[in-house]
Amino acid sequence: MTDLELQLQAARDEAQAALASSNDPSAVEQTKSRFIGRKGVVTAILEQLGAIPKEDRPRIGKLANETKHFITNAIANRLATIESQSTAATPTLDVTLPGRQRHIGKFHPLTQIMDEAVRIFRRMGFAVADGPEIETEWYCFDALNTPAHHPARDIQDTLYVERPPHPQHGRYLLRTHTSPVQVRVMEKRKPPVRIVAPGRVFRRDNPDATHSPTFHQIEGLYVDHNVSVADLKGTVEFFFKQLLSPDTQVRFRPHFFPYTEPSFEIDLSNPALRSRGRDWLEIAGCGMVDPNVFKAVGYPDDEYTGWAFGFGIERIAMVMWDIHDIRLFTENDTRFLAQF
Ligand code: DAH
Repeated sequence: MTDLELQLQAARDEAQAALASSNDPSAVEQTKSRFIGRKGVVTAILEQLGAIPKEDRPRIGKLANETKHFITNAIANRLATIESQSTAATPTLDVTLPGRQRHIGKFHPLTQIMDEAVRIFRRMGFAVADGPEIETEWYCFDALNTPAHHPARDIQDTLYVERPPHPQHGRYLLRTHTSPVQVRVMEKRKPPVRIVAPGRVFRRDNPDATHSPTFHQIEGLYVDHNVSVADLKGTVEFFFKQLLSPDTQVRFRPHFFPYTEPSFEIDLSNPALRSRGRDWLEIAGCGMVDPNVFKAVGYPDDEYTGWAFGFGIERIAMVMWDIHDIRLFTENDTRFLAQF
């Protein structure tokens, strides 16, 4: 066997080995140019054919062409294998699968109402205030003219916190209403005071469709010179017309709260409620701030007047959306929450 024939055999074996370890198209391309490219080993032998002895030429020429074809085929096969492996690894799209549901977050219905209430009051010049959920008897009751024997302070109605009492402010408790925020604000600021305080409150109640041991309120307080019941009524009416609908009517009924004098309960009515068979709905408490409250926060006698109110947020939500069970707000059932 001539030297050229040995070289061709070697080229064929080496090309085969090189291709077997070429795992991507560019590696295959390098092997291709090394053997059958313009400067490739096999190409060089084919170019030398004219220079070899006549009797050897047909035999070596045939072998050189066969080697070139062999390598060309091996390259094509290798490329096909690489291609098929890469498509097998790529996940394919199954158009028969059902679409994937997107879960879009939204605010809890109570948060929506609190945010909207705050927006409405902000437009009227009210600022947002807050206070702690763990309060003391002073802020929750005494400063609000609610004396020690008052039933609201009974262990039956209020959840007390097991910790030693505050030296001046009495026992610790979970606030039963947002009204203590009034005291905290007035202690720190002189009139004019115009605040709303949305927040969570707690009562010792057994849960049923209309009672929950925790719920939310929004407190309002306006104190300045010459603030009147007319300001209170106008503000409350404007608020509910904005929150519910312009055809909402508001009615004040005399009531009693220790921290206001006179005190009222607020009822509201509108065509949507009447169409659901509800006439006047009791929605909130309010009144003119009692002088004893001003005294407790250290405001001078007879200088200011003010009004305050407290609305239950769950109550408003239940009226607005015709919800019949207060427990739904805390159960976190997305079938319920997704409706709002
Ligand atoms: N704190 C009362 C309650 O929880 C609601 C309330 C009534 C708040 C009259 C007030 C008010 O500010 O003036 O039922």
